[in-house]
Amino acid sequence: MARNPSHFPASFRRLSLAFSLLCLLPVPHCSAGAHNYHDALRKSLLFFEGQRSGKLPPDQRLRWRKDSALHDGATAGVDLTGGYYDAGDNVKFGFPMAFTTTLLSWSIIDFGRNMGGEVGNAVKAVRWATDYLLKATAKDGVIYVQVGDAFSDHRCWERPEDMDTPRTVYKIDRNNPGSDVAGETAAALAAASIVFRSRDPAYSRVLLDRAVKVFEFADRHRGAYSSSLYHAVCPFYCDFNGYQDELLWAAAWLHKASRRRLYREYIVRNEVVLRAGETINEFGWDNKHAGINVLISKEVLMGKENDLKSFQIMADGFICSILPGISHPQVQYSPGGLIIKPGSCNMQHVTSLSFLLLAYSNYLSHANRVVPCGQTSATPALLKRLAKRQVDYILGDNPLGMSYMVGYGARYPRRIHHRGSSIPSVNNHPGHIGCRDGSQYYFTQSPNPNTLVGAVVGGPNISDYFPDARPFYQESEPTTYTNAPLVGLLAYFSVHS
Ligand SMILES: *[C@@H]1O[C@H](CO)[C@@H](O)[C@H](O)[C@H]1NC(C)=O
Repeated sequence: MARNPSHFPASFRRLSLAFSLLCLLPVPHCSAGAHNYHDALRKSLLFFEGQRSGKLPPDQRLRWRKDSALHDGATAGVDLTGGYYDAGDNVKFGFPMAFTTTLLSWSIIDFGRNMGGEVGNAVKAVRWATDYLLKATAKDGVIYVQVGDAFSDHRCWERPEDMDTPRTVYKIDRNNPGSDVAGETAAALAAASIVFRSRDPAYSRVLLDRAVKVFEFADRHRGAYSSSLYHAVCPFYCDFNGYQDELLWAAAWLHKASRRRLYREYIVRNEVVLRAGETINEFGWDNKHAGINVLISKEVLMGKENDLKSFQIMADGFICSILPGISHPQVQYSPGGLIIKPGSCNMQHVTSLSFLLLAYSNYLSHANRVVPCGQTSATPALLKRLAKRQVDYILGDNPLGMSYMVGYGARYPRRIHHRGSSIPSVNNHPGHIGCRDGSQYYFTQSPNPNTLVGAVVGGPNISDYFPDARPFYQESEPTTYTNAPLVGLLAYFSVHS
């Protein structure tokens, strides 16, 4: 869960301190051997299978998961089965699911050619989400943006297969707009249409047509979904940052996917207004600004769109703000070298910002450019080294010698904050495990019985310290939007390491 500081009852947190010493004592050293990036890529994609909701297909590889939430949407008379659980709980939140889809698609668009045999699994991971997003946007003027009452869900420690909390359906419409979630959904559908353009042209056209409609709806009926849905989406995936960035972001993806002038003109016309309050080095499910600047810069660097030059200047500013050791560092690093941003689930920032460093470095290389930063300048090679350093930290080159990807390396998190992973699987324990009956599995110091291969957790704090304990959800919970950009990074480094 993204931000909610109290999303599990206090009684479930008491044991936390008992764990801390275990991890502090030994400080083994960084094993700086070469990493097997392709293996990590394969694992990062397996993780998405562990997050699947709905009826699982015959080729499901993570076998401890079973069908779940087979009646989602029924209370509203629609089929909303499928899609992904966002993190360690069993709610389907549309806003981060759409962002995950956009970033998985961007990973494939820029780095699919580096994925070797894994590209098919990456495309399947996108399709699992887009099949759902098509259901959620099937009715004109309505978008279903969440299934599951988050408060009830968070009061239970239950496997998705057993889940019996209310599967309340939440929607936006003309009178209750949500340009944030609608904009991100349009961006996701447009980005995915590029992924499928040559792989499945008919599906690609369906995605693009839907993206066009959803964007029109997002733009015509402006507002933040957390106004009308405050009690459902806040404080989990509340729109803290405003919906303006999602409108620009969606237009940028629609322009890339459709090449229609209309979207470029929209960007130029709305640039100033929609950029209000911009922060140059934020990029995540809530704030798209750095992503918009990098995405649009590609066009500028290819010499195509000079009236969009300001985006490239902002992208350069983002790069300078993230360089370690520059006079006005705006991004903090831990002593071990990890990017640290305030707020929960730090690793989401690490992977999304590193993705932008790598994507931008490729665009710069093609244009034969460097980024001027005051007295110094950043070359594409430097940006790649910075991104690689973050990836290597995640895979185990850090003061604890801990891989933050479950199932990768000798030492990785064993007690992740994830309901399905921490409770015995249906294979081994077919009987129902009810809401409160799961707490024994939450409190135990034993490792999780099911390995959620490829899950990247929230990660260490600014002192490079990591408590491998479920109650520390900010550190020990994985999320889909942490893994999505990592897929592209791992693909690139598996070929260029
Ligand atoms: C990181 O966690 C450790 C262990 O709880 C703690 O001692 C340290 O103060 C934390 N660092 C920061 C900056 O919060």
